[in-house]
Amino acid sequence: MAGEDVPENAPAAIMEEKNGVEEENGVTVAGEGETKPYIKGKRRNEQEAQVKAGKQKGQLPKKRFYRARAHSNPLSDCQFSVPTMPSEFDWSESFPEFFSQEETTEGKDLKVRFADIGCGFGGLIVQMSPLFPKSLMVGMELRDKVSEYVKERIIALREQHPGQYENISVLRTNAMKYLPNYFEKGQLQKMFFLFPDPHFKEKNHRRRIISTALLAEYAYIMAVGGILYTITDVQELGEWMKTTLDAHPLFQPLTDEELEKDVCVPLLTTATEEGQKVERNGGSTYKAIYRRIAGPGYSGA
Ligand SMILES: C[S@@+](CC[C@H](N)C(=O)[O-])C[C@H]1O[C@@H](n2cnc3c(N)ncnc32)[C@H](O)[C@@H]1O
Repeated sequence: MAGEDVPENAPAAIMEEKNGVEEENGVTVAGEGETKPYIKGKRRNEQEAQVKAGKQKGQLPKKRFYRARAHSNPLSDCQFSVPTMPSEFDWSESFPEFFSQEETTEGKDLKVRFADIGCGFGGLIVQMSPLFPKSLMVGMELRDKVSEYVKERIIALREQHPGQYENISVLRTNAMKYLPNYFEKGQLQKMFFLFPDPHFKEKNHRRRIISTALLAEYAYIMAVGGILYTITDVQELGEWMKTTLDAHPLFQPLTDEELEKDVCVPLLTTATEEGQKVERNGGSTYKAIYRRIAGPGYSGA
């Protein structure tokens, strides 16, 4: 938790983040600032050369060459371009295979339907890709190096498995600020918020990705009937997300039976890098999974 007070009893993953360390295949590597890298000069050039070396055709990227600071401030301004409205954004660059068949394939849905917000290293979209081969899904990630890693991961997977992983992509963006710039009203069928940054200090609660104000935005871009998934290993944040969702008139919790049937639910704990870390450390998790329901006056349009 860069610059934040972390309680003594914080989950292991949070303590690791506080100390700016990340684990890769059991090997702990030191964290690095996105805007202020700790590897400087010659060592940095060596690192960049290694990144390029790792980009050989079909080779999966190595996380250690994409080190990033544990957190970025979602309220600060970043330097990246954002479309002024969804129709301005060219998704064909993200899903070239889908769009190249546009004219020949009848009834193909060319709109992104699933969004993994704060996708980290992209484990969820990679796992979901073969489960929903006709649905386009995007991971949205604030940290530059991390989104770059996911991009390279997808390129390598597509090269290794021709015809597969064509329905997933990643965007570097600030999802707290720009979602309506990418998605139209009612577009998304699923939104995922897996192990979001907890922002423990009360004064930083406004940085939390689940809030009453942001839920209104998510409700706008979600289809009625769409599902919003959250999971965390921080009990207080889990309670916060559940309470905030319970209080919102446009979201309703899934029943136990619905949760049982949903193929995405098991992935929440197993698919992402953060989830796997929590499982390895034997940590508890807290899920809150809700359906976007129709508001008063909804006409089905
Ligand atoms: C603790 S990590 C969890 C990553 C992933 N969901 C997982 O389960 O492994 C939270 C991620 O959310 C990203 N993030 C935080 N705020 C964000 C924002 N406003 N927009 C996009 N990504 C954000 C962070 O950079 C980080 O990669």
